[in-house]
Parts: sequence; C-alpha cells; structure tokens
Amino acid sequence: MLPILGSLDVASLVPATYRASTSLVLQTVLLAAGLYIFGKLVTFIRWHRRTDKLFGNVPGPKERHWLFGSFRNMPEDGHDRMQVFVDWGNQYARAQGYLRLWGSFWRPVIVACHPTSMKKILKTAEPKPLGLTSGYRTLKAWLGDGLLISGGEKWARNRRLLTPAFHFDILKPYIHVYNDAAGIFVDKLNDFAARGEQFELFQHVKPWLASDIIFYNTALGKKYKRDCDYVHGVAEDIINTRKAALEKIGGVDKKKYLDFLDILLTAKDENGVGLSYMDIRNEVDTFLFEGHDTTASAISWILYSLAEHPEYQQKCQEEVDEVLQGRQDVEWSDLPKLEYLTQCIKEGMRLHAPVAIVGRETTKPFPIADIVCPPGTNVMINIWMLHHNVEVWGEDHMDFRPDRFTKEACAKMDPYQYVPFSGGPSFTFNLVPGHVVRRRLAAVMRAENGIMMTVERRKH
Ligand code: HEM
Repeated sequence: MLPILGSLDVASLVPATYRASTSLVLQTVLLAAGLYIFGKLVTFIRWHRRTDKLFGNVPGPKERHWLFGSFRNMPEDGHDRMQVFVDWGNQYARAQGYLRLWGSFWRPVIVACHPTSMKKILKTAEPKPLGLTSGYRTLKAWLGDGLLISGGEKWARNRRLLTPAFHFDILKPYIHVYNDAAGIFVDKLNDFAARGEQFELFQHVKPWLASDIIFYNTALGKKYKRDCDYVHGVAEDIINTRKAALEKIGGVDKKKYLDFLDILLTAKDENGVGLSYMDIRNEVDTFLFEGHDTTASAISWILYSLAEHPEYQQKCQEEVDEVLQGRQDVEWSDLPKLEYLTQCIKEGMRLHAPVAIVGRETTKPFPIADIVCPPGTNVMINIWMLHHNVEVWGEDHMDFRPDRFTKEACAKMDPYQYVPFSGGPSFTFNLVPGHVVRRRLAAVMRAENGIMMTVERRKH
C-alpha cells in the first residue's frame, strides 16, 4: 500500500494498467521466493535425515541444541571446559579414535583425538573450515589468505614458495636474533627481580594485540577492526621499507643472511610469477601471529610448569650452566646438548598444547571407522584431547613429567601421538602463592586470570 499524503491519494495518480502489472510482478516475486524457501526447506530436511542416520551412531554426547549443539551445557569457565574435552575423548573415542559432536544448526563435527585418527586427517591436504562458526573465519579479517587460512592451489603454491624460509641454513644465523630477544626479556626480569615485584608472564612474552571474537557491530568487533587496521599498517610499513631498501641495492644483499621478507619479496614460481602485494602482507601478518602468539603461549606455559616444579627447573638450570660454561649467548651447536631442557619444552607443549584445536573441512568422501563422511564434513583436530588421551599418555596425563620425552621414549612414540605443531640462565621462576591459574581457550591457549610469577636472581 502506498502512503496517503495529507488528503491526496498518491496511488490514484498511478495508471490502473501500471498498478495491475506491478501487483503481478509482486505476486511472481513472492511465489518465486516461496518456492525457493520451500525448496531449501525440503533440501534441509533431507540433509538432516541423512546426517542423523549417518552420524547418529558415531559415539559422542547426546546433547544437540539447535544453536549451541553439544556445547549448550559446557561450563562457562574455560579451564573446566578443557576438562570436558578430556572427558569426552576418554569416554567416547576409545573404540575408534574419533568422536562426534554436534555444532550449530545440527551440523556434525568429527573430532580426531587419537594417533590413528590424527594420522588419517593430517595426511590429507583438506582445507581449513571457513563456515560461519569457524575460528579461521574470525582470523580471516586479520590474516587474509595467508598460509594459515588459505587452501587448495593457493596454499600449495605459496607453501612451495615459502618453504626455503624454514631451511636450517636460513634459520641458523637467526641464533643471534634469538639471543638479542632473550636479552631484552632477561633485562625485564632483572627489573622485576630487583624490585621484588609480581608480574603477569604472558603479557611480557607477548606484546601484540589479538581480539578473540569478531562481531563488527559490537564495540569489541569495532575494536578488532581497528586493531586489524593497525597491524596491517605495521606490516605494510615493514614491507615498504624493505622493498625500498632492496630496490636501492638492486637485489638481495648476498653477504647478509636471507630473511623471510626477502624470500617473500623475491620468490617466483615456475612461471616466473611472484607473490602479489596483498599475498605478501597476508603472509607477514600470518607469520607475525603464528610465530608470535604461539611461541608466547608455549614459553609462558613451559615456565609455569617449571615454576610449579622447582626440581625440574633446577635440572634445566644446571644443564644450561654446564653447556654454556659462563657464556651469555647460546650458539647453534649448543642446542642438541640441551637435552633435558628440550624434554621440558616438549612436555610443556604436550601438557598445555599452545595451539589446542585446529580444523579441516573434507572436500572428498572421508572414511572413518565404519562410516564414510560426505564432503563438507567438519573435522576438529583436537590436539589438546590427543595430548590428554588416557590410552596414550596414561592416567597421569595432567602431570608434568619431562621423562616422557627421553630419547628412548621418543624413539618408541607413534609420530602422531604428539603433534603440537599439527604436522638468562640465571633466574628461578616462582608461582605467586594462592594464585590459581585457569585455562582459557582462544586462538592460542591463554590463562583466564594470567600466570602470576615472581622471579629472583639465582644465588649461585
Ligand atoms: C611453539 C610455537 C608454535 C606452535 C605451537 C605452532 C603451532 C602450529 C599449528 C598447530 C599449526 C597448524 C595450524 C592449522 O593447521 O590450522 C601451525 C601452522 C603454522 N605455523 Fe606455527 N606454531 C608455532 C610457531 C610458529 C612460528 C615461530 C612460525 C613462523 C615464524 C609459525 C608459522 C606457521 C605457519 C605459517 C603456519 C601455517 C602453515 C600452513 O598451513 O602451511 N609457527 N603452527
């Protein structure tokens, strides 16, 4: 109905034939919309029945809320949630190495949490899920189509171009960079030790911003957008400065070590085509995030476990003292000699799983146990649950036990039972008494209320 303006009936000014054809168009549009919605409904009901039949018998919790799926009765507290995951794994995945959860809108999620299921899914090149509720989608505004998020041919090509960045010969000269970074950290610890002050560990290991939830119409979403713009600006500054420097000297400085940005700027595929500016920025953002938040989470949680176990911390300190023989800087050749420290690092990454959950979405039929998942099935690769699988790690899986990673034990391990990466020696760390650390699952494993520490200079 058209509006009446004052006493003037505007509709009466429109010719009758025009009104009739408008109403016919409207009816046709409504009919088409109705048929479309009906078609969608029928498709949905059929899909729902098929899904029920196929996944209904895969072991998993019965709870199936239309919006929250299996997660409706999850505890609010992140720490308790992580325990629910462990319980689910041990209750439902024992027989087949998989369990089934329900996501929003009755979508099944297959959870891999045993070496057999991990092997099966990690050996595929299936892409990351980018559906509405996927964590990867949240990160897309920040990391674009970088390696972490992209899939298919784009991922394969860029992965090939960037592989040289991880060659040992490229990484070796970076030992000086690691020493410099460690020096800055140690200076901070010195200040805290001198003042006898408590501090929260994570923020000193991790200075970059990273919001968790992306709701662009909320204050948090807007902040996330502003943060993304800021980080993109930083990445662009870094790229532009290096690009200008390379142009000035007419190519990569052969005397200097080849770094990641040089590789990004100069890499060419078999057709002589390099990465676009946006590709380069996405990879810089991806590596700043992947290389930073993950490492910060790992270091924080490893130090937390060492502070909980002064006896292991002491053994690490003794080993470092012995290997370094009074030197401040670590050399590349020292690394294999730091065996006990390596055991503690590995055990810390098992126990705390800095990247706890990653995912894939199948593009081909994917057989698990006695069913074949259709393309489009969401597979949750739950590293946390794998690292706390009672069958694999024993009833004491929540205990920090570096002896799980002795050379002999590692030689006997299934390569898929421990997958944290999916494929001043002069301090004593102490936990602040009474401060209870609670886990919070974000893109990387965080602590809800921080990891509060004090640090004191060693007496000897
Ligand atoms: C303790 C430290 C680290 C942990 C626990 C960790 C963990 C992981 C995990 C679990 C994935 C798989 C993600 C997925 O499949 O969705 C991954 C991917 C990736 N990580 Fe790390 N990471 C760490 C350090 C680093 C560092 C230092 C860098 C680079 C400087 C880095 C760069 C990447 C990249 C580029 C990817 C995507 C690879 C691809 O899909 O091809 N990570 N990392």
